[in-house]
Amino acid sequence: MYQLARPLVFRQSAQSAHEKVLRLLAACDTVPGLSAALTLVHRAAFERHEVTVGGVRLPAPFILAAGMVKGKGFADEAVAVAAVQDGENIIPGWRSFPALVGAVEFGSFTRWPRVGNAGTVMWRDATTCSTQNYVGLKNPGAKAAALFLAVRQAALPARYGINVAVSPGVSDAAQERDEAAFAVNCFVEKQLRPAWFTLNVSCPNTEDDPSSHQTEQHTRALCAAVRDVLKPTAIPLWVKVSPTLADEQYAVLMSVFAETGVRAVVATNTLPQPHPTQPMLAAGVGGGRLHEKALRTARVLAAARDRLGCPVDVVGCGGVQDAETIRAFQAIGINAMQYWSALIYRGPLVAALMMTEMEHTHGN
Ligand SMILES: Cc1cc2nc3c(=O)[nH]c(=O)nc-3n(C[C@H](O)[C@H](O)[C@H](O)COP(=O)(O)O)c2cc1C
Repeated sequence: MYQLARPLVFRQSAQSAHEKVLRLLAACDTVPGLSAALTLVHRAAFERHEVTVGGVRLPAPFILAAGMVKGKGFADEAVAVAAVQDGENIIPGWRSFPALVGAVEFGSFTRWPRVGNAGTVMWRDATTCSTQNYVGLKNPGAKAAALFLAVRQAALPARYGINVAVSPGVSDAAQERDEAAFAVNCFVEKQLRPAWFTLNVSCPNTEDDPSSHQTEQHTRALCAAVRDVLKPTAIPLWVKVSPTLADEQYAVLMSVFAETGVRAVVATNTLPQPHPTQPMLAAGVGGGRLHEKALRTARVLAAARDRLGCPVDVVGCGGVQDAETIRAFQAIGINAMQYWSALIYRGPLVAALMMTEMEHTHGN
């Protein structure tokens, strides 16, 4: 089906296609019966293939990565909260996307809302099946997002994750730690119980250099603070890292994750590359151009985990789009993966397609 729709999508710029998809998602959330119909499509397309990763049992090994169902941007928390109270759908796709694709990581959400970066923020490179984005953590903020999801608790999927990012532009370490913990607590105190939380310390598209969050000291403080918020709930904590750190740094981070009770590390976020029109800025590349770096990161993390005996799973993320890229992650012992760019190139049922391809190429 997507083969038919793809020329229409690719006739438009990546930005325009992305905006239209978000509008469509918002409409799908509200049309009565549509999510139920999407659930039927999901059931017809997906076979059950359970995996356990990072303390979470998933019905299938693929998760839609953070950044698709992340919510609208707002400049002000009170305005975002008022929009929720007015019944606005501030998280387009919250119902329709999980109904169709299965497990989704919502977010990233930050302590304070963000409007994101202005102008064109999405690009495609079809020759390498890559994406590049400069969205800049646009989101409604943790408070409004939690309020929105809490009101819809009964209609939320059985398994979903919530991704919380550290506040961009905060240089004080204690404030950074407290804001991350506060953001996670917004969801917990509203009685939301996602299957996992992911702490995103690696967004390349904001005013921050993400490597500054990924030092030993910062990561330890951030993870410990979030772990303490999650302790009474027993919800597992995952952390999402960059593809650009040194091998020694990944080894140090792995032991910090084990020490602070992190159950899984998502490797990786996008790769910072020059912004297509403002090369002094960095914009994150995902898909084919990320794959080798993400794979290498995952390999280094898995090796450190095995060497140090850390009870931390590695979730592959970066250019996962077909049997070959999946097998590359599986070859280093990874049994669950996240994907984003594959959605653009292969359509919303890409996870089901990938599962079928794995079946058909089994043992080859
Ligand atoms: C438009 C866009 C927005 C994204 N926003 C987020 C985000 O808010 N938080 C996050 O952790 N990752 C975000 N990502 C990164 C993806 O979750 C994923 O890590 C990355 O795209 C690599 O996966 P891929 O190679 O399958 O695309 C975003 C990616 C894209 C393309």
